[in-house]
Amino acid sequence: MRIIADRVTYAYPGGSAVFDQFSWRAEPGELWFVVGPSGCGKTTWLRLCLGMVRPQEGRLEVGDVEIGRASPSQLRQLRLATGVVFQEFRLLAGQSAFDNVAVSLRMAGMPRAEVVTRTREALAAVGLADFAEQPVEHLSWGQQQRVAFARAWVRRPRLFLADEPTGNLDAETATAIMDLIGRIHESGATVVVTTHALEQIGRLGGRVLRIAGRTARPVGDSPAPDPGGLR
Ligand SMILES: Nc1ncnc2c1ncn2[C@@H]1O[C@H](COP(=O)(O)OP(=O)(O)OP(=O)(O)O)[C@@H](O)[C@H]1O
Ligand SMILES: [Mg+2]
Repeated sequence: MRIIADRVTYAYPGGSAVFDQFSWRAEPGELWFVVGPSGCGKTTWLRLCLGMVRPQEGRLEVGDVEIGRASPSQLRQLRLATGVVFQEFRLLAGQSAFDNVAVSLRMAGMPRAEVVTRTREALAAVGLADFAEQPVEHLSWGQQQRVAFARAWVRRPRLFLADEPTGNLDAETATAIMDLIGRIHESGATVVVTTHALEQIGRLGGRVLRIAGRTARPVGDSPAPDPGGLR
């Protein structure tokens, strides 16, 4: 899915602008890491991309949806096509890892046999095949993080967003989560991940969007998008 931000300005109600005339472009299938100090707007950027908040000025297109003007049903479609892992995973307590992952397929009306196959595949992909029947509150933090990834990934979204997925994880689990992000990227999804784990970024070869105060710019070894190319 392509994301085009053209001079986007956004301020929370009563606050000063988090984004001021911000332009950026992610092409389909690209992997982007969003970095910057606490409070710079990384989470807000993901919320804008999902239409949880809308720009006050400028144009933000995510796929074929213009966030500033999207109808509720367009936003629903966008969210169905997007896998999201927020900082608080919001897993369903009292339910198994399996049910937590299967829920998004069941909601989409998938036949039962296919739900079982796909859910087992997704749990195996995150290394939790043996934990499918465990209630999620019996799993460690890192295992719960991986359940959240399996849930976001099981529908094969074209856009995958994750907010600091390696926060609070030991180095080994963080590396496993980053490997998973690499696999999701290789499957063709556009992937946008906020992170403080700079040492992990180079390994996966993504591009870097650095947000600093009111200025945001892409850095890294690939060239910055040409603002002239924005419509
Ligand atoms: N719901 C809200 N209402 C008002 N202001 C908010 C709200 N959420 C965030 N902000 C403000 O917007 C700015 C950006 O916040 P955001 O959460 O996007 O930062 P962040 O880069 O994700 O930080 P962190 O690395 O700590 O997660 C901050 O100044 C914050 O205080
Ligand atoms: Mg944040």
